[in-house]
Amino acid sequence: MKMILDERGKKYVLKLGEEFQSDLGIIKADVLDNAEVGDEVKSHLDHTFKIMKPNINDFIDIMDRRCSILLKKDIGLVLAHTGLGAGSKVVDAGTGAGAIALNFGNVVGSEGHVYTYEIREDFAEVAKKNIGNFGIENVTVKNQNIKDGIDEDNLDLVFLDLPKPFEIFEEVWDSLNVGGWLAVYAPYIDQAKLSYRVANKLGFYDIEIIELLERGLEIRQQGVRPKTRMVGHSGYLLFARKL
Ligand SMILES: C[S@@+](CC[C@H](N)C(=O)[O-])C[C@H]1O[C@@H](n2cnc3c(N)ncnc32)[C@H](O)[C@@H]1O
Repeated sequence: MKMILDERGKKYVLKLGEEFQSDLGIIKADVLDNAEVGDEVKSHLDHTFKIMKPNINDFIDIMDRRCSILLKKDIGLVLAHTGLGAGSKVVDAGTGAGAIALNFGNVVGSEGHVYTYEIREDFAEVAKKNIGNFGIENVTVKNQNIKDGIDEDNLDLVFLDLPKPFEIFEEVWDSLNVGGWLAVYAPYIDQAKLSYRVANKLGFYDIEIIELLERGLEIRQQGVRPKTRMVGHSGYLLFARKL
């Protein structure tokens, strides 16, 4: 994959052998394929494009999606709170377009593995295509209802982003390693509260519910202040660890 940045700062991620076309002109596939990261190439309308190496976030920004995806602030907290690392084994559901599954795959490396469950066939197909295009082989998309059972065991993390996640906490417990984490993304307080109660009853420890609010700063001539618009509520994250 290659990324090009136009004069307006808009980015495009392209596959090898792909020709580029926009209102700023056409760039032939061979010109793009032969260019190195850092080079500048010209379109037939003489506009300049910078060649960059796309990272996971560039790819997620442009990938196909049919439903909302998790925000970076929430993905970041899941990775940091659970201490996910190279070699970890993860189950994720539902996949959606695959945003957090891709991040898990990116972090667990070639010695780890991610199994991601998606109930809808059309969404599972999109996620498979996205993960294939990103070029990692350690993420397996399963077109299955996770409530029918978790096939894997010895897991370091089970991440659930679906309605009524607490219905399968008992099964999650059985599939986790001692010290492994359950993490839940819940848009509503009611879901988060019920998840807390069920996790507590099952004997999970270190149970916490966290909401992250993200607010940037505005740098102006007159002064610096918080932006008036912020990423407010997205969802609550519940974390619970198996004893
Ligand atoms: C909000 S999306 C997930 C977004 C995704 N986690 C991400 O990283 O952006 C919720 C997904 O869960 C799927 N889903 C709902 N219930 C499910 C179940 N029981 N098993 C598997 N997938 C399920 C839905 O089809 C939908 O694609």
